[in-house]
Amino acid sequence: MYAFFVVITILFAICYCIGVHGKPAIKQSFRAAGYQAYYYLLGSKGILEDYVYAENNKTHLLPKVGEVAVITGGARGIGVQVVKKLLQCGMHVVIGCRNIEAGERVTKVIKSCGTVSGEVTCFQLDVGAFKSIKTFAELVLKRFPRIDLLVNNAGIMFVPYAKSEDGFESHFAVNYLGHCLLTHLLLPRMIDTAKEKGTNCRIVNVSSCAHLAGSINFKDLSMSTCYIPSASYAQSKLAQVIFTKSLDSKLRKHNIPVQVHAVHPGIVNTELFNGTLLKTIAPWIPPLVFKTPTQGAETIVHACLAPALEGCGGSYLSNCRETAVSREADDQEVQDKLWSIMLSLIEVEKFANLLGSTPNFPLNYNCPLKSENGLLFLAVYTVRHIERCFQVIKHFINFFIHVAKGVASAVLLFQHRLQQYGHERWNYSAVKASEAAGFSSMKKKARDDGHYGAMLEWYRGHKDIRYQFN
Ligand SMILES: NC(=O)c1ccc[n+]([C@@H]2O[C@H](COP(=O)([O-])OP(=O)(O)OC[C@H]3O[C@@H](n4cnc5c(N)ncnc54)[C@H](OP(=O)(O)O)[C@@H]3O)[C@@H](O)[C@H]2O)c1
Repeated sequence: MYAFFVVITILFAICYCIGVHGKPAIKQSFRAAGYQAYYYLLGSKGILEDYVYAENNKTHLLPKVGEVAVITGGARGIGVQVVKKLLQCGMHVVIGCRNIEAGERVTKVIKSCGTVSGEVTCFQLDVGAFKSIKTFAELVLKRFPRIDLLVNNAGIMFVPYAKSEDGFESHFAVNYLGHCLLTHLLLPRMIDTAKEKGTNCRIVNVSSCAHLAGSINFKDLSMSTCYIPSASYAQSKLAQVIFTKSLDSKLRKHNIPVQVHAVHPGIVNTELFNGTLLKTIAPWIPPLVFKTPTQGAETIVHACLAPALEGCGGSYLSNCRETAVSREADDQEVQDKLWSIMLSLIEVEKFANLLGSTPNFPLNYNCPLKSENGLLFLAVYTVRHIERCFQVIKHFINFFIHVAKGVASAVLLFQHRLQQYGHERWNYSAVKASEAAGFSSMKKKARDDGHYGAMLEWYRGHKDIRYQFN
């Protein structure tokens, strides 16, 4: 563990030094390495939290027969398990997916399990293209007179620089902007549905703990001048959390019965990690320590259904419990500015024909991380996250103290059990163990105590016992 922290600290130090003295291209590479190091720290903390709060990561399914849910990216990964659980509740699930055949194949597999009662409809949707989103929304609105739930789940991570057909960087377009447009188009129908049924409809944005590493680069949202895939993913996931907070507070202000949640599903073993350094050099780690897609779906479904969350929109959930968001996500100025920019990018004046942009948002707003200067970035970044780094380290230390205590009790229990077999047998196992470990002094002590020869004799008569000790 100490080695891990030493490596991370050295990486930060190298990044900092080269950020000060290096050339722009080198600065960018090291800035990327700094991001990567921070990601590994955040990821490890995420895995730890998933273990610590594993007991919390459970939700109850409720009967929702006749209700309609729309989900993006429901044909692969965590989305499939969310679809399965919503079908178990009896909902009619509309899957928006790029490949309809894949969606229908998955539906068949889910239905063949025999435990689901709901219905599925698959429509073609590319969340990265405004035209496709508008066609998808039109089809949904035409076909379904009600929409009770919208799960904005589709996502991409760490992809090379590319622009969507509307001219936006792909992380920003798919993870954030496309979902904003889809929400804008479906929200009026959700409001009607909520008014009719008398309880809130819900919008669930599947974000990530990676948002903690993010910052909104207002100067260059597409990051075209300085593209770092991990920074771009973090920015898009932070934008999703900010969107959640802004939309929910606006809906509340207007007394509209729709609530919005953001969710971190956990660190989940899906194809999202394909091509990452971790999956390339140690593909055995994710299946061993990450959540399964079924476990990853729990918090999303909790946000969709839990009665305890009724009226508690605007929250960010992880392991089915409300969790703190980054300082930037809670910043009202950032929320207002991003909201206004989002409206202009999706080319609408009023969100869902109801919610306009905040008047008088400060046009001369200065984003602290807007500079491309490597030195300034690293200095501000380090200072802003130093508190969080300490929290992460505290978590690690607490976790390892717990593990050490657990191991110590297990050893004591084991020793106690062995002693129950009899003093001589215990000594024999000590001799064998010491031989294996090459501790000749322990072996010598056993011989001096006179147990070694006696034990060998005993052993010859009870060979079967060796399987218990070896
Ligand atoms: N896995 C994790 O550890 C983790 C952690 C935090 C947050 N998340 C978030 O959880 C969500 C689901 O991730 P996952 O792990 O299930 O990933 P995944 O297995 O890679 O699945 C991603 C899904 O998104 C869909 N998608 C991607 N781009 C799309 C586009 N342009 N239009 C329509 N659909 C698109 C994919 O559909 P296709 O089959 O058409 O590609 C697929 O169904 C993502 O938003 C991700 O950021 C995941």
